[in-house]
Amino acid sequence: MKIGCPKEIKPQEFRVGMTPDAAREAVNGGHEVLIETKAGLGAGFADADYVAAGARIVDTAEEVFAKADMIVKVKEPQAVERKRLREGQVLFTYLHLAPDPEQTKDLLASGATCIAYETVTDDRGGLPLLAPMSEVAGRLAPQVGAWTLQKANGGRGVLLGGVPGVSPAKVLVIGGGVVGTHAAKVAAGMGADVTVLDRSINRLRYLDDVFGGQFKNAYASAGNTITLAREADLIIGAVLIPGAAAPKLISKAQLKELKPGAALVDVAIDQGGCFETSRATTHQDPIYEVDGIMHYCVANMPGAVARTSTQALGNATMPFMLALANKGWKKACADDRHLLNGLNVHAGKLTYDAVGTALGLPVISAAEALKI
Ligand SMILES: NC(=O)c1ccc[n+]([C@@H]2O[C@H](COP(=O)([O-])OP(=O)(O)OC[C@H]3O[C@@H](n4cnc5c(N)ncnc54)[C@H](O)[C@@H]3O)[C@@H](O)[C@H]2O)c1
Repeated sequence: MKIGCPKEIKPQEFRVGMTPDAAREAVNGGHEVLIETKAGLGAGFADADYVAAGARIVDTAEEVFAKADMIVKVKEPQAVERKRLREGQVLFTYLHLAPDPEQTKDLLASGATCIAYETVTDDRGGLPLLAPMSEVAGRLAPQVGAWTLQKANGGRGVLLGGVPGVSPAKVLVIGGGVVGTHAAKVAAGMGADVTVLDRSINRLRYLDDVFGGQFKNAYASAGNTITLAREADLIIGAVLIPGAAAPKLISKAQLKELKPGAALVDVAIDQGGCFETSRATTHQDPIYEVDGIMHYCVANMPGAVARTSTQALGNATMPFMLALANKGWKKACADDRHLLNGLNVHAGKLTYDAVGTALGLPVISAAEALKI
């Protein structure tokens, strides 16, 4: 198969769909890999790295799209890229179609087979191609929180780990899923005094069993939340209710009860945020203040560490990318129901229920699509 990887063109996107490592594995499997020149630069991969892995560098995105049987990307295709897709071509990338009728219309019109990273599943009920980005955002959260707490940035001027004779900062993590667990591990590793709140008793049991010595946990009742928030220097929002906007767990009125200069890092901002006063910010201008409380609400946190994020995403997508290349999409999806769950669009038909419901469009089952 010819596998093509264009340079990402969405503003501020520095990741790339294929690492040189992924290219090497595909080439070793007998496939041809076409990389648009400079596609990897934002993540620190030079054209020469891809050439050394056996890939071929091509000059333009047009050529990548025209020649490849399968396109591997990071972000949803932009309008100009969607025009380049064609019937029979496979697109493997993040799509997030439910809130995006324009993109959905164009993908349906293209006739291409579109497999979305975000709906691929695993045996444990998780989303294996979303998890790496949650891991990155979670581990980054204490790092940006520590920076926000510095005096020059408007924070309390508190060092997360304290020093001998001075108590460490108190960190409250709301939501103990992938983001929250990674945030808590890193905050505890930095020496902070960490508590994680969750509403799932099973998740609290897991956290207690595995991390009992490293950080505390508590049930996320409204009472526990505000009591612990009042004592916290840094609060990290990491809740998710799948398919719904994030619940608002700290109101504007409650900001007055927090320590002056405390920092809120709202990782759940991509689902609307879990603090009432959260609004999405960018890496260029990441923090702002409301009622003396500093807020960090960057919606694409993994972009700050594009190289690590690209490598983490590449590791997770690689086995699926190889299965698609080795077997062809139909057999790869027929053999693996988790990959089949990733199918969103095929030959002008929508194949993912939640997208159809959100956009009021007809849907056929992914299993039916395998017969077309
Ligand atoms: N800003 C970014 O760059 C970025 C990057 C990655 C993920 N995210 C977002 O981070 C959020 C968390 O993602 P995740 O992968 O950890 O999800 P997850 O499903 O692994 O974990 C969410 C946790 O929140 C808990 N929860 C739900 N409602 C709660 C409540 N009211 N109080 C306390 N806990 C509650 C759930 O029980 C679950 O354990 C999501 O909104 C995700 O989209 C943002």
